[in-house]
Amino acid sequence: MYQKLLACVESVRKKTDFKPEVGVILGSGLGDYADGITIEAVVDYTDIQGFPVSTVSGHKGRFVFGFVKETPVVIMQGRVHYYEGYAMSDVVLPIRLMGMLGAKKLMLTNAAGGVNENFKPGDFMMITDHITTGVPSPLIGPNIDELGQRFPDMSEVYSRRLCKVIRHAAKKCGIGIREGVYVQFTGPNYETPAEIRMCRGWGGDAVGMSTACEAMAARHMGLEVCGISCITNLAAGVSDVKLDHKEVKETADRVSADFKKLVTEVIVS
Ligand code: 6GU
Repeated sequence: MYQKLLACVESVRKKTDFKPEVGVILGSGLGDYADGITIEAVVDYTDIQGFPVSTVSGHKGRFVFGFVKETPVVIMQGRVHYYEGYAMSDVVLPIRLMGMLGAKKLMLTNAAGGVNENFKPGDFMMITDHITTGVPSPLIGPNIDELGQRFPDMSEVYSRRLCKVIRHAAKKCGIGIREGVYVQFTGPNYETPAEIRMCRGWGGDAVGMSTACEAMAARHMGLEVCGISCITNLAAGVSDVKLDHKEVKETADRVSADFKKLVTEVIVS
């Protein structure tokens, strides 16, 4: 796995020597943020040896290197999901790659279903912690000692410092932000009402199919992590509306202007 990662680093380094400070992953429907930054280089996932390529509509599949104001960033436009059939080690390969390219901080975003009954579609939720269910740890297998230790601590996956930054940034932008626990299921099916009640019992506030595994891989490497969910819909049983990916994309599009403002403010803070 480490050899594969080194080969990916080499593929990218043939195209650009840009050194990002912050890595950003854009979730469903939020992908066009990268088009608005000062772009220095673009690397398509298909140009990286052995790199997993997303199959979901609404996910583009490239790294965009550039500046948000003065801050050097690498933005992943489109992620790969475990439900696509990739090994979990491949799902988190892009995270490890961003770390190897120099990123010290990672900002994760996603589209998520609201479990908390106070949430409405279009709300933003700062992720304060996560739970995984059915999702294997991305750290299973021989430990890559060059990246981190065998038994990494997960008591502060989402940096309290960055949480403060996000609260501040939201306030400055005049954007309301909720806080809560993200529960990652494997997907690709949405959950049943009983599973959503279970999540609520566990203290979960939002559900999705990504992010937690990426956060774990990033923490293993010692990156400072934060995350924001866009609550695109209410989860099963929370409302009577049937779930579909179209609603997810429509809501994400509707709030994308605020989302971009918030992401920018967090990056430059
Ligand atoms: Cl309700 N569940 C999951 N797992 N992912 C989602 C979602 C729900 N809504 C958006 N993404």
